[in-house]
Amino acid sequence: MCGITGYIGSGDAVEIAINNLKRLEYRGYDSAGVAFPDTNSVSILRAPGKIVNLEALLSGASEHKHVAIAHTRWATHGRPCEANAHPHRDCTGQLAVVHNGIIENYAELRRELIAKGHEFASDTDTEVFAHLIEEMCELEKGCDKTEGVANAIRKALHLVKGSYALAVISQSAPDTVFVARKESPLIIGLGDGENFIGSDIPAVMRYTRKVLLLEDGDFAILTPNSVTLTDFEGAPVHREILDITWDDTAAEKGGHAHFMIKEIYENPRTVRETLRGRLMDDGEIVLPSLPFSPEQWQKFRRISIVACGTAYHAGVVGKMFFEQILRRPVEVNVASEYRYSDPILDEETLVVLISQSGETADTLAAMREAQHKGATTLAIVNVVGSTLARDADAVLLTQAGPEIGVASTKAYLAQLTALYLLGLYLAKHDNSGRANLTEVEYREYVAALRELPSQIEGILKEEATYALLAEELAKHHCFFFLGRRYDFAASLEAALKLKEISYIHAEAYPAGEMKHGPLALVEPGVAIVGFCTQPDTNEKMVSNLKEVKARDATIITLLLEGAETPDCSDFTLRVPVTKEAFMPLVSMVPMQLLAYHVARVLGCEIDQPRNLAKSVTVE
Ligand code: F6R
Repeated sequence: MCGITGYIGSGDAVEIAINNLKRLEYRGYDSAGVAFPDTNSVSILRAPGKIVNLEALLSGASEHKHVAIAHTRWATHGRPCEANAHPHRDCTGQLAVVHNGIIENYAELRRELIAKGHEFASDTDTEVFAHLIEEMCELEKGCDKTEGVANAIRKALHLVKGSYALAVISQSAPDTVFVARKESPLIIGLGDGENFIGSDIPAVMRYTRKVLLLEDGDFAILTPNSVTLTDFEGAPVHREILDITWDDTAAEKGGHAHFMIKEIYENPRTVRETLRGRLMDDGEIVLPSLPFSPEQWQKFRRISIVACGTAYHAGVVGKMFFEQILRRPVEVNVASEYRYSDPILDEETLVVLISQSGETADTLAAMREAQHKGATTLAIVNVVGSTLARDADAVLLTQAGPEIGVASTKAYLAQLTALYLLGLYLAKHDNSGRANLTEVEYREYVAALRELPSQIEGILKEEATYALLAEELAKHHCFFFLGRRYDFAASLEAALKLKEISYIHAEAYPAGEMKHGPLALVEPGVAIVGFCTQPDTNEKMVSNLKEVKARDATIITLLLEGAETPDCSDFTLRVPVTKEAFMPLVSMVPMQLLAYHVARVLGCEIDQPRNLAKSVTVE
């Protein structure tokens, strides 16, 4: 995920901005850059790869500057390379911008700006900002002064759709940094005769502990001795100064005790970002990164989903959803078994590979096998520039941002969101007559997708309930997670989450299978989590729970809001109602919270569980 820093004051601006940029390295990035006002124009230095590569470019010219903005890029539009690294300048070289977020209407704006004579030097959406501000400056005819530049930026912001944390410097206002925020984080660090900007608090903590957290719609003008806050219209805005008392390690985790819980809290944003630019205001789904026309999709008679671990569990949901609405055969495979099973593949098969890291050896081997046999490969992947993202025939990026905790959390929600978008897109464009999706149903799905982020936010507000329940549940030596249909798919991931971080034995079973063997294991000290979110099978589900209750297990039921509590339930958790197919996404948030808190109660190494690695690059 991109990172932004900046400095204005009497210190060495470039050095300070780059030092602070290093505090954002944990977010992951593929290139870095810095801009500062110079003799006649704004200078930029950029390098692909690590920040050390950028530092190697520094020279006397960059020393003793008093204003700088810097950036680490995590590619979204345009491959990782020097030309696409930030900062970007306008045609005149008089201003430079860094940006975190996505400009949804960049293609249209870029076309208009090119028609007006602007020359673009990169493939990024960000560069549009630089030329748009330049264009507005020309209209303003007053961009030689701070207020003129500020007005030009504000006007440009009104033309841009999407999310941004933006920082701008201009040769016309050499002692000023301009910033704006909409749906991407940005903070201001307040110093004595100096001020800082950063994507998060840790970025500035080495120099100051007093920060202003910008909110959506905030615009700020920074000089060494002042910070002027307004909205995008120029009306004054007030934000309280926050005194940071965290230590450095806690700060990197955004004040949370572990990366895992920080990432659980990033779930709503992850879903929003994965929908952004793909689910349009009019309800249309567009997947511009996929190189197939709607007609070309029709040639795929079979879909084969391949992945490992959590990504495989997302694939299980994907299979159910695709089969439900596409009415085509879909199989889901564990990648480590795939190529040894001599899979039946041909030109009419679409192989969907799901991976957070894009580097999992088994998933890569499955991709090569599929390509060798003539199938088309589509990667649903989080890390841009990973091997899977580079080598698959088509890529649908999840927008989870870097995931540091070894146990995958937000990546699962991002993978599901991408699968839902893909399934709905394919069904909507199906002209074979096989798809089972009416226009009304399509609209219902779209409306439900839009609701998901705020529904997850609602669950997160109940974290204290899960922390309390975890105290009780941590006393159990074995867990079964039971469900039917989509609930069974969700239970697979819930069991994995608990076992990998708490080391308690946990298994997922289709609820109806318990009496075919596993029931023999049920005794006091065993906890059963029953997912009851699928109305069609709920009655049967409750009967299955009664069977285990009769063997003295502890029963935790996951129920829809408003649903009647079964009398066999010892503890009840509630989740908001959404489409049945979307329930695994919603249900996983309480399950992640529960797993996290059980592991915390047991004092486990949450972010780095024993024996596990984040990226499994060996078979
Ligand atoms: C579990 C977990 C793993 C990964 C698996 C695949 O929490 O993180 O099961 O899901 O190793 O990794 P990726 O998605 O990087 O291919």
